[in-house]
Amino acid sequence: MKEVKIEEAWKKKYPEQVSLAVTISKDGKPDIIALGWVMPTSFNPPMVAISVGKTRYTHKLLSEVPEFVLCFPSERQKDAMIFCGTHSGKDYDKFKETGLKPVKAKYVKPPLIEGSVAAFECKVVATLDTGDHTIFVGEILTAYISETEEKRIYNFGNYFKSISND
Ligand SMILES: Cc1cc2nc3c(=O)[nH]c(=O)nc-3n(C[C@H](O)[C@H](O)[C@H](O)COP(=O)(O)O)c2cc1C
Repeated sequence: MKEVKIEEAWKKKYPEQVSLAVTISKDGKPDIIALGWVMPTSFNPPMVAISVGKTRYTHKLLSEVPEFVLCFPSERQKDAMIFCGTHSGKDYDKFKETGLKPVKAKYVKPPLIEGSVAAFECKVVATLDTGDHTIFVGEILTAYISETEEKRIYNFGNYFKSISND
């Protein structure tokens, strides 16, 4: 083994699944963030952790309304995902800008994204400060999958590729 800079070793983790998380402000305006740092943490109760940078608008919204909808975007949503991952909800209404369609959730205030490969309604039950990001642990209240077959998006480091999970 040769010792290298930490960033160089991290490049070896790709491909990484890409997700979107929808959050909402106290006055009901939703935002969407692209996420790579997502981890299931428990089957029973079902839990998932997301790691959100402290500078993200999503971080502020999660502190105000501790609920999120985690969505796996389909290949058709690739451009929208890139927009959500490169623009802040401080400045943009991402549903409006991307054309992604919100669908009312059953248990939480943030909406689902129509056409997702899968979506999970989550309420935040714990947080962990991990430096420049905070881990938000969500209990999954219910989940959905697309009725049509859709490919998921994977990040290969410097490009994105769509892969079927079937
Ligand atoms: C593929 C991809 C993965 C990303 N993963 C994360 C992540 O896991 N955590 C995070 O805080 N930001 C991540 N980002 C960056 C945020 O999506 C980006 O800063 C976004 O503009 C924040 O939006 P907001 O300010 O509306 O919350 C990722 C971006 C891309 C394109």
